[in-house]
Amino acid sequence: MLAQLLLGNGVRLKHSNTLLGLRQYFPPQTGLKFRSAVRGSEFGQRKFSSAGLRLTRLSPPDNSRSYAIISQPRTKLTRLLEPRFFSANSAQFAAPSPPLPVLSPPSVGRWLLFSSALVFAVIVVGGVTRLTESGLSITEWRPITGILPPLSNAEWNQEFEKYKTTPEFKLLNHSITLDQFKSIFYMEWAHRILGRVIGVAFIVPLVYFSLRKKLTPSLPAKLTGMALLIGVQGLIGWYMVKSGLEESLMDDPTAVPRVSQYRLAAHLGTAFVLYIEMLGTGLLALRDWQFAKGGKWSGVTRWQDVVGHPRVRMFTRLSWGLTGLVFLTALSGAFVAGLDAGLLYNEFPLMGGRLAPPSDELFSAAYAKSPDQSDLWWRNMLENPTTTQFDHRILAVTTYFSTGLLYMQTFRPSLRAVLPPLTRAAATAAFAMVNVQVLLGISTLLYLVPVPIAAAHQAGSVVLLSTMVYLLTTLRRPGMAARAWREAAQKGEALRR
Ligand code: HEM
Repeated sequence: MLAQLLLGNGVRLKHSNTLLGLRQYFPPQTGLKFRSAVRGSEFGQRKFSSAGLRLTRLSPPDNSRSYAIISQPRTKLTRLLEPRFFSANSAQFAAPSPPLPVLSPPSVGRWLLFSSALVFAVIVVGGVTRLTESGLSITEWRPITGILPPLSNAEWNQEFEKYKTTPEFKLLNHSITLDQFKSIFYMEWAHRILGRVIGVAFIVPLVYFSLRKKLTPSLPAKLTGMALLIGVQGLIGWYMVKSGLEESLMDDPTAVPRVSQYRLAAHLGTAFVLYIEMLGTGLLALRDWQFAKGGKWSGVTRWQDVVGHPRVRMFTRLSWGLTGLVFLTALSGAFVAGLDAGLLYNEFPLMGGRLAPPSDELFSAAYAKSPDQSDLWWRNMLENPTTTQFDHRILAVTTYFSTGLLYMQTFRPSLRAVLPPLTRAAATAAFAMVNVQVLLGISTLLYLVPVPIAAAHQAGSVVLLSTMVYLLTTLRRPGMAARAWREAAQKGEALRR
């Protein structure tokens, strides 16, 4: 009876005695054999494999050393054993519930949060690299041999000579000394090294957790996608740098030696996507674990009452929309940065004494490339510094007021009554952060893009995005594995009573 219960329901076994007891339910004449004697609580999957049972070590929410039978292969023998064997309860146990899915332990969540922190760091270092105009100092893409910086004077001179062939040196930095070159080189080198560290710090644990079967079923594909994205990010980074090294820049007398704003935006956008994915997945893994352990969900006892509520659903949709808007504003910022558009119209809220620059400046024919000017709009929006700055302002102000509106929503009594406390806290954090971010943006503009303020502004956009990601995770229902675990734990609790 006990064994059937366990087999049928995947209930956790806490004591070695229970497992020892299992042997008695499968006496030798049933044909089931336990390969080795069971000692103390040192059970392992292999010891029971020959019995036709798959026994697995669980990572139970309460951290106790527990084991469960996760499946019983339906052989002729086990079928024979099924209802007839336990006829008294056959109706109750005729249909065994599916095996419990793997639930990622907190170490998986912590690793993902650590990875997101590394991505945050690389975004900040990348911003400083761009702001200090260091990004074009390494003229080659050598993923393996580039790990070491030049070590001897001869090697430094060799690197310097390569830099001297670039448009940036010829047009901007022709009086740079070797020592100055070394400092910009080290900045770009640190950025690239951090990128490699992220790759290793992500992929090694990913392989480990996969081999140890510690990943919730939805995770392997998602995490593999992230690992690939890290590689793609490295390629985009090099593709971006290449655009600033092209010799053709020298042919255009008006050209400035800088990278393509499109590639810069792609590089920054991919970094944001990686960061959001790592942070969101890590937070959800930790929250799922807590929930499975019997903890509250976003500070409330029943998630079903919240997630299904029409007002909350509307609030969730608005939050997704706002997160998209923050993302778009940040991307438009990359265009401002890529075109050095922060060096124009250094006043706020006006631009040249008016709310908007004249339309012939915003949509100047000089930027259209097709003969019928069908590209006038989008080219101005993405290539004209005045227009990109104007767009960034519009998006930023819209983001600001939208975040304020979302925050105010949390005070509406009908919504406040159902909204989890953690969601309200996240909305407050988002509103606080958007204030800081707008102040940093305005200061960046008024002070003509000083490195510390502009870098803080870039970091601020990541913090703002983080508050929104956190907010969204507070509204996500617990994962399938966590729900299954919690249910099993509750059933187990009921059985023990
Ligand atoms: C929600 C608000 C905002 C967000 C999320 C945001 C985001 C960003 C991002 C991600 C960048 C790119 C930084 C880089 O690649 O180095 C940027 C650049 C910039 N932003 Fe904002 N921004 C916001 C508000 C503002 C405001 C209100 C202003 C002022 C009008 C502003 C002015 C600038 C300027 C001048 C740059 C170029 C700085 C540079 O060259 O490095 N931003 N913004």
